Amino acid sequence: MLSICLLMIFVQSGKMADSPNCDLKSLSPLQLFERVTEQGEKVRALKAGKAPKDEIDAAVRMLLSLKLSYKTTTGQDYQAGLPPKDLVLINNGTTQEEDEDLVNPWNVQTSNAKGVDYDKLIVRFGSSKIDTDLINRIERAIGQKPHHFLRRGIFFSHRDMDQVLDAYENKKPFYLYTGRGPSSQAMHVGHLIPFMFTKWLQEVFDVPLVIQLTDDEKYLWKDMTVEKAYEYARENAKDIIACGFDVNKTFIFSDLDYLGTSAGFYKNIVKVQKHVTFNQVKGIFGFTDSDCIGKISFPAIQAAPSFSSSFPQIFNGKENIQCLIPCAIDQDPYFRMTRDVAPRIGQPKPALLHSVFFPALQGAQTKMSASDPNSSIFLTDTPKQIKTKINKHAFSGGRDTIEEHRKYGGNCDVDVSFMYLTFFLEDDDRLEQLKQAYTSGELLTGELKKVLIETMQPLVAAHQERRKQVTDEIVKQFMTPRKLAFEF
Ligand code: TYM
Repeated sequence: MLSICLLMIFVQSGKMADSPNCDLKSLSPLQLFERVTEQGEKVRALKAGKAPKDEIDAAVRMLLSLKLSYKTTTGQDYQAGLPPKDLVLINNGTTQEEDEDLVNPWNVQTSNAKGVDYDKLIVRFGSSKIDTDLINRIERAIGQKPHHFLRRGIFFSHRDMDQVLDAYENKKPFYLYTGRGPSSQAMHVGHLIPFMFTKWLQEVFDVPLVIQLTDDEKYLWKDMTVEKAYEYARENAKDIIACGFDVNKTFIFSDLDYLGTSAGFYKNIVKVQKHVTFNQVKGIFGFTDSDCIGKISFPAIQAAPSFSSSFPQIFNGKENIQCLIPCAIDQDPYFRMTRDVAPRIGQPKPALLHSVFFPALQGAQTKMSASDPNSSIFLTDTPKQIKTKINKHAFSGGRDTIEEHRKYGGNCDVDVSFMYLTFFLEDDDRLEQLKQAYTSGELLTGELKKVLIETMQPLVAAHQERRKQVTDEIVKQFMTPRKLAFEF
């Protein structure tokens, strides 16, 4: 830090009156970014207001020194509108180039029929690719074949997964955290992705799991009463439980319920709130001045479960237990913010595993979304509805005529039925055979759709069967704050 200050003094030609002082040491990259932005605005205002030359020069010197310290801290040049890599702005129009994919907690859009360019997204979001080395390391650590979501690149990106493996290999504890925003009664099959994977993680690593149901978020964002949001949370909890979580190792909570009862949780919320400015959440989430204050402070509520002190009953009051969050990459903005704040409130940064999106039936330009019923196969759909939806809406990579299809073959890269099979058909050999047959033209679109229908119908029916077994009493057990089957 001393060197940063010396560098700044050098740039300021010895003028100390307005030097940014060594307080900069306590600033996160994002705060530094903001200081540079503010100073830039100040310089522009001074120039526009034809302020005295001395004053403008001093402000410019300050700007240069702030830029320098930004570069020294982040290793990146300051670029207006582009915050440090770990905290890329989204959704406010300032960073999304014309040809860039839109990915945020509320929207996923791309013009590419193959779907979002995930390699580019890794670069934009500043996360790391889950490469073969990491997958091999996971395999060695757990002593079994990794889940097909890992093998097939469905979970494709991470933050600090190596640290989680270090902890695991050194017999240090960690815990899993994931969640759901209960926007409607029915979840769709895309929502199963993070929960199926989380269940597998819980089994292979044998760790505690907390699942947040953000009924408060849905009340704030949607046209819905508090009571309805809470009701949906309990209904969605049944679907989540039906994924097979172990009641002795899992705590599911509704924000509307749990927050009012947990001092530990609330303390973490206010700590996060104190360390994130309105400007920062505007930058990260695209909030505007007319958004209600509930929305503006909500990210702190999604951040809090990343810290073990939010669950004293599970962790025996221990802070600093490493957290691992599996989710689709749309949730990353919340956790970029959390990771930025964590060291400043004395907490470890949560690690993340990101999945791609389960595409809409109409094509991979957007994700499957519960708010567009035709885009989704719901967990409540009947076998007949599943068949009709797939036959009618699933975008085909096949050719216009049978003759052309036989001659040129189909395109698996854009074919939604094939994409869905990569998520849900576990047999690697069968998937490869289908790919070959479809690409060569031997297999027609109707036949591929039939395979998908025959895969999805039993999968959804089995889920419905398990869900029927989930009684209110079982929901209550999962949702009661309590110690889990782990000693801390
Ligand atoms: P929500 O309800 O939008 O989504 C729940 C989980 O499902 C993932 N997801 C998808 N995954 C694959 N394909 C899709 N088409 C798809 N749509 C949604 C989401 O990434 C998420 O993992 N605010 C959150 C709730 C939440 C949360 C969390 C999520 C609170 N804490 C921690 C993940 C981790 C929400 O509304 O999720």
